[in-house]
Amino acid sequence: MTASDLSIGVLNGPNLDLLGTREPELYGSLSLSGINSELEALGAELNAAVESFQSNHEGELSDWIRDVGRMKDGLLVNAAAFTHTSVALRDALLASGVPFVEVHLTNIWAREPFRHRSLLSDIAVGVVSGFGKESYLLGLRALCNHLRPSA
Ligand code: DQA
Repeated sequence: MTASDLSIGVLNGPNLDLLGTREPELYGSLSLSGINSELEALGAELNAAVESFQSNHEGELSDWIRDVGRMKDGLLVNAAAFTHTSVALRDALLASGVPFVEVHLTNIWAREPFRHRSLLSDIAVGVVSGFGKESYLLGLRALCNHLRPSA
């Protein structure tokens, strides 16, 4: 594998399309397209092509994992509320066999108890939670380093 050939998918779950206006005191003022632009710019630095997808629907997210995500070298996954509930997304990620980093804008363990459980963490390479948009950027760096350990 050369330093230029990573292909990374970014999966965003429900209500993340509202970033920028959704509870900005928790989630920040940057829109999802703003985060995607920053990921693409960092991806260019890291020689990784970044393709992002968002849906509010569990089935669409599962379909993206099986149709698009499984072709990627690695995934960044913010499943949002489905993090805490979705066996279907867990199973789709397991079926894909693609390594992924779980990311959250907020620190899910510092919030309501129902957010403390993730159905994805134990099958993720790692988890970055609580750093706002930096969770995505740190997650992308960590994922690329994981996929290219010698780089
Ligand atoms: C979130 C945390 C989830 O608990 C919540 O449902 C979200 C966003 C985060 O990025 O902090 O929608 O995944």
